Amino acid sequence: MFLTESPEIEYDIRIAKPSDASGIIRCMQSVMDEKIYLVGDIYLYTERGEKDMIRNPDDLNLVATSKGEVVGIMKIQRGIFRKNRHTATLGIAILRGYRHLGIGSKMISQGIEWCKREGIKKLNLEVFSSNENAISLYKKMGFEVEGVRKNQFLIFDKYVDDVLMAINF
Ligand SMILES: CC(C)(COP(=O)(O)OP(=O)(O)OC[C@H]1O[C@@H](n2cnc3c(N)ncnc32)[C@H](O)[C@@H]1OP(=O)(O)O)[C@@H](O)C(=O)NCCC(=O)NCCS
Repeated sequence: MFLTESPEIEYDIRIAKPSDASGIIRCMQSVMDEKIYLVGDIYLYTERGEKDMIRNPDDLNLVATSKGEVVGIMKIQRGIFRKNRHTATLGIAILRGYRHLGIGSKMISQGIEWCKREGIKKLNLEVFSSNENAISLYKKMGFEVEGVRKNQFLIFDKYVDDVLMAINF
């Protein structure tokens, strides 16, 4: 259990269980509802699909929980082809109200350690150029910008670049 500077917020970080599926879907949808951080507007996985992902031994699904609720999710999904099985892709979303407490950086550190243990050679992610907070955190964790797809997204009438970041182990 981790304590934070806000005395009312304690949280835990652990491997997701199939029973977390509905909490993960709620957390992802809540972050998608903010419209400015994630590509999708609607989280497309059903509870059954989410459970299948959680059970996939190739991937790492971590949840942050507070008072029994999923307040953060980080997924690292390994490439499914022989040509990209040495790579993995990271996705992360922390519920509003639980950000800037150290949850994201702890989850990413654990994800990086997992990649090293699994022999993964490269960890990728994509982030909107407008998401400066996330980009600065990723840089702090060791990610480097490998490419930029210009004007890839349109968010509230403004074109935003897709920033491709990675850590090569
Ligand atoms: C981006 C995101 C994953 C970061 O997670 P987070 O839990 O807020 O990150 P952390 O708290 O670990 O770190 C964020 C900042 O808080 C600071 N921080 C870390 N621990 C802290 C603590 N105990 N108290 C106060 N601040 C702290 C970090 O230094 C960091 O500061 P910086 O950005 O100025 O360098 C999260 O904000 C989020 O989910 N945002 C919305 C969805 C999103 O953008 N997802 C990523 C799409 S690519």
